[in-house]
Amino acid sequence: MAIKTIILAAGRGSRMVSAIPKVLHKIAGKTLLQHTLNTASQLPNNKTVIVYGYGGEQIKKALAHEAVAWVEQTQQLGTGHAVLQAAKHINDSDTVLILYADVPLLQKSTIDKLLAGVCQRTLALLTVHLANPTGYGRIIRDQQGKVRQIVEEKDASKTQKLTGEANSGIVAVHGKRLKQFLAQLQNNNAQNEFYLTDIVAMAVAENMQIHTCQPDHEDEVLGVNDRIQLAHLERAYQLRQAVQLMAQGVTLADPNRVDIRGTIPKLGSDIEIDINVILLGDNCIGSKVSIGANCIVKNSTIGDGVQILPNCIIENANIGPLCRIGPYARIRPDTTLAAAVNIGNFCEIKQTSVDEGSKINHLSYIGNAKVGKNVNIGAGAITCNYDGANKLTTTIEDDSFVGSGSQLIAPITIGRGATIGAGSTVTKDTPPQQLTLSRAKQVSVPHWQRPKK
Ligand code: UD1
Ligand code: CA
Repeated sequence: MAIKTIILAAGRGSRMVSAIPKVLHKIAGKTLLQHTLNTASQLPNNKTVIVYGYGGEQIKKALAHEAVAWVEQTQQLGTGHAVLQAAKHINDSDTVLILYADVPLLQKSTIDKLLAGVCQRTLALLTVHLANPTGYGRIIRDQQGKVRQIVEEKDASKTQKLTGEANSGIVAVHGKRLKQFLAQLQNNNAQNEFYLTDIVAMAVAENMQIHTCQPDHEDEVLGVNDRIQLAHLERAYQLRQAVQLMAQGVTLADPNRVDIRGTIPKLGSDIEIDINVILLGDNCIGSKVSIGANCIVKNSTIGDGVQILPNCIIENANIGPLCRIGPYARIRPDTTLAAAVNIGNFCEIKQTSVDEGSKINHLSYIGNAKVGKNVNIGAGAITCNYDGANKLTTTIEDDSFVGSGSQLIAPITIGRGATIGAGSTVTKDTPPQQLTLSRAKQVSVPHWQRPKK
């Protein structure tokens, strides 16, 4: 079965009060349209057509990497009119699936159920029973319970409005039938629009069967019209991901207070995640990792047994097994920590590799550095890696000890096993195994008196 998915994305979305087209607003860091498109892309033998209108150039640019057909609807004359614009992409033998770009949480499993019910003789509708169906088209059934038509809220009689079964708008229909129905659409209704929903009564008149099915979760068919609904669906999506993580053996302190804006290509077991953690981009997380409260981890690999204490920011980094980070540490891009490295509070590490067992525990800045094994960098020691024009390298060899408050002026090498006395400003390479000091001699002035007022 060849599937054509038509995604309707032409609406302006004025209730968003935004210069950005509605379908480019984001849920979990990904545009609404991308969510819908990704779901469609999971279907086998599928081609997608996107009907765009308002903000077309911005939308096309945002999805330039996608292999889809684009169709412009210059005037928004209704959902039926929108689908009609895509008619030239519809083959008679296609199964056509209509999706909305502003309904981002629809799941493939629900689409599968819908597609299972469609054939030349049957049109498939996704409907939903809502406690408050105000605003939705209503599914009108006869006494035998067979669907007769869909009536829009604005065209519905009082009794029709009492029906709690709403039209999700998502429908699947045979290509040849659809094209035949689209050609017959009229706009003599309350909104003077060409309603796609009118194809249901046309199908009934042609003695077609109407197959209906429901989504597993109501939020799958909820649309975004304003920022309140956007926030609501963001939370629904995040909760869905949190539930998946817990099902995979992750302990979440609070499934309502974790945000995943991206993917987790590798996930170990017995991971613990405290509240207000944000995972951005693609993160691989090993087993027995614990991530403390308020951490942000982006595009990083976290090895087994790593402990990330609260309030850390880690970006584009590779954290080896059994490292301990934080609290309040910032690991910046292109940092690689080998096994069992400790990075303590208020340390900033950038574009640096640190070998096994080394400790940078308090208030340090280490940038553009190569730090060997079992190195101890004292409190407040920093690399001076920037001369105003160039970034310069600091090499700190194995087993060395950099005293507190030292400044290592790059380019420089601290030899293996060297000790740098606390408070030194080191400008030249230091020999291995020796103590190097550069500080003014301490003097005490006897009989000195503090001035008095
Ligand atoms: C539509 C359905 C209604 C259903 C509801 C579900 C029709 C006539 N009504 O109503 O039965 O309960 O969705 O949310 O289909 N769009 C275009 N071009 C247009 C008009 C709309 O691309 O000319 C797009 C919109 O961007 C949106 C989608 O189609 O993604 C739905 O349009 P909208 O105006 O929200 O339809 P509703 O009136 O809510
Ligand atoms: Ca709508």
